[in-house]
Amino acid sequence: MPVDVLLGLQWGDEGKGKIVDVITPEYDIVARFQGGPNAGHTIVIDGKKFVLHLIPSGIFHKNTINLIGNGVVIDPITLKREVEQLEAHGVEVRDKMLVSERAHLILPTHKLLDAASEASKGDKKIGSTLRGIGPTYMDKTGRNGLRVGSIKLDDFEERYHFLKAKHTRMLDELYHFEYTIEDNEFLEAIEFMKTLKTCKGEAYLADALASGKKVLAEGAQGTLLDIEFGSYPFVTSSNTIAAGACIGLGVPPQSIGKVFGIFKAYCTRVGSGPFPTELNDDMGEKIRKAGSEFGATTGRPRRTGWLDLPLLKFAVRINGVTDLIMTKADVLSELEEIQVCTKYDTPEGITENAPFDLEHATPIYEKHGCWQEDLTGCRSVEQVPASLKSYIKVVEDYLNVPMTYLSVGPDREQIMEYTS
Ligand code: GDP
Ligand code: IMO
Ligand code: MG
Repeated sequence: MPVDVLLGLQWGDEGKGKIVDVITPEYDIVARFQGGPNAGHTIVIDGKKFVLHLIPSGIFHKNTINLIGNGVVIDPITLKREVEQLEAHGVEVRDKMLVSERAHLILPTHKLLDAASEASKGDKKIGSTLRGIGPTYMDKTGRNGLRVGSIKLDDFEERYHFLKAKHTRMLDELYHFEYTIEDNEFLEAIEFMKTLKTCKGEAYLADALASGKKVLAEGAQGTLLDIEFGSYPFVTSSNTIAAGACIGLGVPPQSIGKVFGIFKAYCTRVGSGPFPTELNDDMGEKIRKAGSEFGATTGRPRRTGWLDLPLLKFAVRINGVTDLIMTKADVLSELEEIQVCTKYDTPEGITENAPFDLEHATPIYEKHGCWQEDLTGCRSVEQVPASLKSYIKVVEDYLNVPMTYLSVGPDREQIMEYTS
C-alpha cells in the first residue's frame, strides 16, 4: 500500500492538524517526517482544542499508530509535557506512539543558540520560534548531534556534556550571550523518553507497507518555509516538501501515493521574510481577527494577505500535489470583494512563475465577488454558495489539480468532500 503525504502549500498553519485528524480513520499509521516543536497543529473535538507540537495528529483515534519519524527533531521536555497533557485529558498515547531511534534530540543549549543567533541578527532576524530547530539540524548535518537511539547508551550523559560544552563555548565566545542552563529538567525528560516505545522507523514502515497497511505522512510548516525551495533565508531548517517524507521516514519514492496539498483561502505568515500579497491595512486586520490568526506555538499575530496563485502553483509542482484541500473560506464570508494574485510584475517582466526575489516582485491581482453566507454549517457541496464554487474553480483551473476537501471551520465536523 502507498504512503500518502499531507503537507502545507503556504507558510505553515494551513490547517494540517485538523485535516490529518479528519482523514486518519482511512490510515493505519500517521507519521511526522520533519520539523519539531516549532509546529503547532490544532485539532478541535467537541469544542475542545488541542495543540500538538511533536505528536502526530492521528493520536485521537484508537486504532492508529503514530510514528515520530527520523527526520523530526525532538525536544524531550516538550514531548514529555505533550504526552502528559494528552493523558491528563484521557487520551491514550503510549501504546499508540512510536519514536524513531534515528530522530535527533534538541538540547537546552540548542534553544539558547537559537535565541543567541536571532539576537545577533538584529532586524535581519528570521523570526524563529526559538525552539532550537536550526541549531539542532546544524548539529545533525555537522555530524555532532545526539539521537534517540543513544539515550540508553552508558555514555549518553558524557556525550550530552561534550556537546553542551561546545555550545557553551559558542554562546560565550561567539555570541557573548547571557544564559542559565537547566540540565535537570532535560535529563528527567530523557529518563521519561526511555519509557516510550522506540523503533527502527524505516524497518517498521517497510514491514507495515508490505503487509498492506496504509500510511499517512504528516508535514509540518509549509512549502514556502522549505530549506531548499522556501523564501530563503527566511525559512525553517528542514525539507517540508513531499520529497522530505522519503528522507524523514526512510520510505522509497515509488511508495508515495497521493499528495494532499493544503492551503488557506487567503495567506498567512508568522515571523520575518517577504510576503508579496501581505495586507498591512484594515483588511489585513479584519482577516486576522475573523480567522483568529495568532500562532499556535508562540501566540504571535500572524501576518495576513490575499491568496497567491503563482506561489501555490510553484508549491503544487514541487510537491506533485494530486489533491487540493482548502481551509478557512468561512473566514472571508461577508467581505464585499476578495483579490487573488495571478501574476507578478518583476524586473525580468510579467510572470506566472515564482520569482527568485520575492522582495522585488509586485503582485498583479484579479478581483472576485465574495460569498455572503455563513459557511460554518455547510456539510455538502450542494450547500456551498455559487460565488465560492466559482472561486474554487478559478484555483483548480490555475493549478490544474482538483479540490477534494473543503474545510469550513476549526471543528473536525466542519468539513466536506468536494467535487466541482
Ligand atoms: P497547522 O499548523 O497547519 O496544523 O495549522 P494551525 O493549527 O497552526 O492553524 C490553523 C488554525 O485554523 C487552527 O486554529 C485551526 O483550528 C483553524 N482551522 C482549521 N481549519 C479551519 C477552517 O476551515 N476554518 C476556520 N475558521 N478555522 C480553521
Ligand atoms: P506548522 O507546522 C508557521 C516559521 C517561524 C519562522 C521560520 C523559522 O504549525 O505549520 P524555526 O523555528 O523553524 O527556526 O522558524 O519558520 N515557522 C512556522 N510558521 N507554522 C509553523 O509550523 C512554523 N514553524 C516554523 O515563524 O518564520
Ligand atoms: Mg501551526
